[in-house]
Amino acid sequence: MGARGGPLLLALLLSPLLSPAGPGQPAPQEADPMSGPCGLRSIAPLIVGGEPSVRGRWPWQASLRLRKAHRCGGSLLSRRWVLTAAHCFRSHRDPSEWMVQFGELASNLVFWNLRAYVNRYRVRNILVHPHFSKGFSDIALVRLASPVSYNKYIQPVCVLSSTFMFEHRPDCWVTGWGDISENYTLLPPSYNLQEVQLTILNNTRCNYLFKQPFSRGIIPDSMVCAGAEDGSVDACKGDSGGPLVCDKDGLWYQVGVVSWGVGCGRPNRPGVYTNVSQHFNWIRMLISCSSPKPGSCQWLLLLILLWAPQLLQPA
Ligand code: ARG
Repeated sequence: MGARGGPLLLALLLSPLLSPAGPGQPAPQEADPMSGPCGLRSIAPLIVGGEPSVRGRWPWQASLRLRKAHRCGGSLLSRRWVLTAAHCFRSHRDPSEWMVQFGELASNLVFWNLRAYVNRYRVRNILVHPHFSKGFSDIALVRLASPVSYNKYIQPVCVLSSTFMFEHRPDCWVTGWGDISENYTLLPPSYNLQEVQLTILNNTRCNYLFKQPFSRGIIPDSMVCAGAEDGSVDACKGDSGGPLVCDKDGLWYQVGVVSWGVGCGRPNRPGVYTNVSQHFNWIRMLISCSSPKPGSCQWLLLLILLWAPQLLQPA
């Protein structure tokens, strides 16, 4: 988490007290993060091998914008929190450089599209997972400066503590504004969000694929692989941070965060995603720590500080 870890955690701890609603009073619409409805959409249906999406089909999809230009994908978890990849912030950790856009199909800014301005939110904090290094724990939470207004096109996705049941499912989806092939093929103008259906591989199979021609598997349980063994579908550069989602009984759950790959859409090289369920406790803890409910998790925060004192030390 580096130099900002300590002050950020302290800011989170104090933020309920500093919220405009005043101490002890829940800020409007943010009383119970992560316990409200999620994963619902009212509009049914790189990305490599994908096709243009329809507005509202992936209402949790976010565009993380560095100095106004799309840099990474993300997903809305609650009115204040966006999940994304830690590596998106490798060289830019200053929240004031970032904005997050929701509810739009196009990633570019058309200046007469007033709605896109309204649907852009400033960033209050960037919380990179404390164990992020060399592609591991490639996950980060972004706390928005103001609560997002939900509508038909903007809704949160669900997260679960176990997503084992999605293994081998061929009907999960990844979405994003990334390149459409490995050779830096940018999305054609219109910059329409792309979607592609893919299969979640189990780690044994994924390690087997990655073993050839190397000698050992490289995919731990904190990552999840998805794609097609023939390489026909994949995420690519610019999709990072975006959600890999599957539905269960009509609700959508986020299984992965786009993290890395060997090229894009190569045979036997599925895309590698951060396993969201493996980081569920970290997500839940940070989100509930920011809850304005008094005493919701201050003790937990204290535990973390004791357990990871390096968060308080300058990098
Ligand atoms: N790291 C890439 C990014 O910054 C995402 C790569 C995903 N690649 C893949 N083949 N699935 O956007």
